[in-house]
Amino acid sequence: MHIDHYDDDRNPLLPLFALADDSQTQIAAYITRGELLVAHDADLLVGHLQILETEDASVFELKSMAVTEKRQREGIGQHLVRAAIAYCRARNGHRLIVSTAAADIANLRFYQRQGFRMYKIVRDAFGPSTGYPEGTLVDGIPLRDRVLFDLDLTL
Ligand SMILES: CC(C)(COP(=O)(O)OP(=O)(O)OC[C@H]1O[C@@H](n2cnc3c(N)ncnc32)[C@H](O)[C@@H]1OP(=O)(O)O)[C@@H](O)C(=O)NCCC(=O)NCCS
Repeated sequence: MHIDHYDDDRNPLLPLFALADDSQTQIAAYITRGELLVAHDADLLVGHLQILETEDASVFELKSMAVTEKRQREGIGQHLVRAAIAYCRARNGHRLIVSTAAADIANLRFYQRQGFRMYKIVRDAFGPSTGYPEGTLVDGIPLRDRVLFDLDLTL
């Protein structure tokens, strides 16, 4: 498995983006933005991670990431996050932010294991007005609130 920058057509990566975000509307709004890192195994794309610049030049955002279902829990996600950290540090990044659903316990655990810390909760970020069907459940938990995490890249 190795990680590369990706400069081709992003449409073939839609299934990976869709694993990370249930809203087609939201994905369409950001899929073309920023820098994309991908994890390859032989000729297969097994994961992606999208990094955006923010208004503050020292702050980057991890906007989307996923690993194909068959290849999860092998450490590929961790490798992608490490590559993203190196990418941001090389560009003088001091802070990397990411957000996920409060309902997604696996993601809360994953990001904290990568060193991220929570700094904000946005209530009702997920709902029909932002492209998420009413009544969506994640492991029985209503998909409603967004948790924001950050990682201090200067440490
Ligand atoms: C979140 C996600 C990207 C993580 O990718 P991943 O490749 O599965 O991540 P890792 O393998 O590095 O770590 C995942 C877990 O596997 C464990 N793991 C890693 N290597 C392992 C191995 N060889 N054997 C057993 N477990 C292992 C890790 O400890 C970690 O455990 P945790 O979930 O209890 O923290 C992936 O689960 C995913 O694509 N989810 C769906 C999309 C999504 O929700 N994206 C994030 C949106 S914000």
